Amino acid sequence: MQRKEIEKKLEKMIGRERLLHSIGVADVAADLAVIHGCDREKAQTAGLLHDCAKALTPEDMMKLISSEGLAIDEEERLEPGLLHAPVGAIIASKSFGVEDRDILRAIARHTTGDSDMTCLDKIIYLADAIEPGRTFPGADELRKLSRRDLDEAVLMLQERTINRLLHRRTIIHSRTIAARNDLLKRHMHRRG
Ligand SMILES: [Fe+2]
Ligand SMILES: [Fe+2]
Repeated sequence: MQRKEIEKKLEKMIGRERLLHSIGVADVAADLAVIHGCDREKAQTAGLLHDCAKALTPEDMMKLISSEGLAIDEEERLEPGLLHAPVGAIIASKSFGVEDRDILRAIARHTTGDSDMTCLDKIIYLADAIEPGRTFPGADELRKLSRRDLDEAVLMLQERTINRLLHRRTIIHSRTIAARNDLLKRHMHRRG
């Protein structure tokens, strides 16, 4: 599907405001992909579609999860805000014809991250937080760091996310912890 066609269909599914967020994520992701030597087209498509399941009710998401036989864990069940990521990968495949596994995985991982994140995973995870519509203290610092050092930027964002979840006393998904540990280990190996 062409980008304009995707945008039109997406707007019907998630509304104007979320479409604008998604366009912002796609543009930032494409930019980061060029900087960090990742596939630009894939980054753009994954960015555009990452929230395609966002407007579904938890009930509808659970229906899709069971009809597709998708395995979800207890942490995801207790924190339904996380489900739009794996469900988004299903919709990207079924409704938008995306077959590329890298794109589908980046969509599925965009809320929690995971151990062994690919360049595309990291780019989508970051672009979601730093697209131009996002304003939070430290956003500009994270924008600059994302262009300079992808891993350091992901670590910074993970720490911000974990801090927020601790303050809210909500469940921190084990993949978020695994993602951070994985990056820290690589960081330590790099430094010897
Ligand atoms: Fe999302
Ligand atoms: Fe998003």
